[in-house]
Amino acid sequence: ANARIYEATASAPVNIAVIKYWGKRSEALMLPTNSSLSLTLDQDQLQSKTTVRVVVDADGKENDAALWLNGNREKLSGRVTALLARMRALRVTKEAKDASIPRLASKPLLIASVNNFPTAAGLASSASGLACLAFAVNAALQLELPPADISALARLGSGSACRSLFGGFVAWDMGSKPDGSDSVARQVASETHWPNMCALILVASATQKEMPSTAGMQTTVETSPLLQHRIQAVVPDRMAAIEKAIAARDFDSFAEITMRDSNQFHAVCLDTFPPIFYLNHVSHRVISLITMYNQVKSKSNGRKYTVAYTFDAGPNAVLYLLKEDVAEVLRLVNSYFPNGVDAASSSAVDEYYGLSKQ
Ligand code: PMV
Repeated sequence: ANARIYEATASAPVNIAVIKYWGKRSEALMLPTNSSLSLTLDQDQLQSKTTVRVVVDADGKENDAALWLNGNREKLSGRVTALLARMRALRVTKEAKDASIPRLASKPLLIASVNNFPTAAGLASSASGLACLAFAVNAALQLELPPADISALARLGSGSACRSLFGGFVAWDMGSKPDGSDSVARQVASETHWPNMCALILVASATQKEMPSTAGMQTTVETSPLLQHRIQAVVPDRMAAIEKAIAARDFDSFAEITMRDSNQFHAVCLDTFPPIFYLNHVSHRVISLITMYNQVKSKSNGRKYTVAYTFDAGPNAVLYLLKEDVAEVLRLVNSYFPNGVDAASSSAVDEYYGLSKQ
C-alpha cells in the first residue's frame, strides 16, 4: 500500500551578530544574560536547507525521529528532542480540537538537513539549522504558527536561531519575565533598509570548534567577572547606539560598535576560567590588516572606518562593509593572504600596501 507522506522543505540563512549573545540566565528556557543584534545574510549566501517528512501508515515507533546532517546519520541532541516534543505537543492540541485533520502528532519524523558551508566552525550553522528545522516541522505537522512563535521555538534549539527567522537587522531582546515570553527576536530594519551593506566571510579554518558554545557560555557565566560588567554596564548602551546607527545608516558608528563588541566578547572568553580561545594567529592578522587599512583609507575617503570585522565562536572573520568597497577589500585580502586565508602566509604585501609603515 502507498504510505501517505507529509513533507516540507525549508531553507534559512545564517545571521552574524554585531552585538554578541554569550551567556544564559536559564538553560531550560534558553534565556540570555544580555540582548543581542545581528544581520541575517542573504538567502543565497550561507544557508541551511532541511526537509522534514512525517511518515503516516508506515511501521515505526511512535514519537521516533531520525536525523541526517550533511548526509550522515546523527543522533538527535537533547535540545532537538525537546524542540520536537514541544512541536508535537502543539499538534496534539490541534488534533484534539478537530477530529477531521490527519493524526500526525506522534508519527515518526525523518529529518534531512544540509549546510552549504562548514558546520559547527563558528559560522552560525546552528542558527540557520535550527531556524529552518523549526520552520519545516511547523509546515510538515501543519501547525500554522506565526513567525514569532516559530522564532521562540527555534530559540529552544539554539539561542541565536531565533534571529534567523527574520531578514535584515534583527535584535533579540533579553526580556525580564521569568517565563521568557518577552525574550523575543524583533526586526529592527528590513533587508532593503541599507541596500549597500555587505558581508565578506574569511574562512581561516573550517574545522569544528574545540569548545561548543553551550559549554563555553556556561563556564563564562560561572567564572568571568568581565561578563557581569558587560551585561550591566556595556550592552544596554550599545544596543541603543547600534539601533540608532542602523536607522541613520551611519557606517562609522556601526563599524566601531561592531568591532568593539567582537573584541569584548573575545575578551570575555579570555576572562573565562579556564580561558577559551576562539581567535587564532590568522584572526589576529585579519584584525591588524583591517585596522591598518581603515587608517590608510580614512586619509583619502575621510571616513573613520571602511570595514568592520567581527568573530563568533571560531577564528573565521566576518567583514561588514559597503558594496562600493568590496572589490578593493577583496583584492587586499587576496594579496595579503596569497595562498588563501587559511594558509596565512602574508609577507612583503604589507609593504606593497604601505601598511608596515603605519
Ligand atoms: O546560539 P549559539 O549557542 O550557537 O551561540 C551563538 C553565540 C555567538 O555566535 C558567539 C554570538 C551570537 O550572538 O550569535
